[in-house]
Amino acid sequence: MSQLFQPFQLRDVHFKNRVVVSPMSQYRAKGGFANEWHLVHLGRFALGGAGLVFVEATAVEQRGLRTHGDLGIWDDAHIKELKRVASFLESEGSVPGIQLAHAGRKASERRPWHKELPLNEEDFELRSENSWQAIAPSSIPYADGWPAPHEMSGDDIEDVIRAFGEAARRSKEAGFKVIEVYAAHGFLVHQFLSPISNQRSDEWGGSEGNRRRFAIEVARSIRKHWPDNLPLIFRLSATDWLDGGIEIEDTIETAKCLSHEGVDMIDCSTGGIGGKDRPRRMVISQGFQVEFAKRLKEEADIATMTVGFLWDAEFCEAIVQQGSADMVALARELLDDPNWPLHAATKLGRNEEFELWPQESGWWLQKRERLLKKLGIR
Ligand SMILES: Cc1cc2nc3c(=O)[nH]c(=O)nc-3n(C[C@H](O)[C@H](O)[C@H](O)COP(=O)(O)O)c2cc1C
Repeated sequence: MSQLFQPFQLRDVHFKNRVVVSPMSQYRAKGGFANEWHLVHLGRFALGGAGLVFVEATAVEQRGLRTHGDLGIWDDAHIKELKRVASFLESEGSVPGIQLAHAGRKASERRPWHKELPLNEEDFELRSENSWQAIAPSSIPYADGWPAPHEMSGDDIEDVIRAFGEAARRSKEAGFKVIEVYAAHGFLVHQFLSPISNQRSDEWGGSEGNRRRFAIEVARSIRKHWPDNLPLIFRLSATDWLDGGIEIEDTIETAKCLSHEGVDMIDCSTGGIGGKDRPRRMVISQGFQVEFAKRLKEEADIATMTVGFLWDAEFCEAIVQQGSADMVALARELLDDPNWPLHAATKLGRNEEFELWPQESGWWLQKRERLLKKLGIR
């Protein structure tokens, strides 16, 4: 029997299966506000049968936007449109999740298709989009040619920690049932964790414990506002793939510390801290990050989600069967086929009567299938 399509539970939240829609920035928001695009884009995945659907990286403060098109949740005014999205996802049987983010030194960037470069005067001329001053643990640019970020003061740090807590309150009011903190891919929380980007000499940098402090305080701040019966997930980059960066052993310790602060699951990705070129050590193959989720699950004794270069139903099934991860997140494959969970369930023998489809489609598809079989076409 398929394990990928077995239900799963974190705290009081029940997922109908283990398939997760990984957060995917759309760069379609204005002023941080969600709109019809987000509703339709994410709604397709709920109709497609995913157990958990994440709203993309959503900035907890305006300086933490990566691009002008990112979603935001720094103001109560953002709640209304997000609530429409969460409510639709839930009404169609998916758990609505939101990823809370702060871009730190990756802020003030162009949308990917305008080239992944910092905003400059050209963006203002072409699109009336200003650049702004990014903040980070240390004044070290993200990549060659990027402006140096402003080193965060103690007050800046306290402000951002508070902003994550306020964003959690707003997420609850918008009806989300899962929060994920974006602490991977070189975003601000990752910038504090990694010695490559954090070279502070105060209590927020230096030792491993000091570099972890920001992540821990973010978790605490969220837990103050986020109900006890709802799960909190952290997306971590298990390794920076760079000498002198984070290694899996560091991440195992980080996961243990976060678990003590009420974090229920690690969404296990890798990389993203050091500029635009892929690190030499990072060799991509199907499921190349699964081994990290497995080690975290075994050695930090915490539930895990795996992600990265996954598309094959049997391969994803084996991940859960073998106990390497509790949930499996997909991104690009779902852009190609938002109904991937339904198709995967069929392949794994769980949807032969189209029973997992919304009735409005399933009823017709079943009728057609019978006819196809009768005519010997399938
Ligand atoms: C269009 C797009 C937008 C993305 N935006 C985010 C994001 O907002 N937050 C995040 O954690 N990862 C983001 N990612 C990374 C994905 O969540 C995922 O980790 C990555 O694409 C690897 O999974 P895949 O091979 O299934 O695509 C994005 C990926 C894509 C393709």
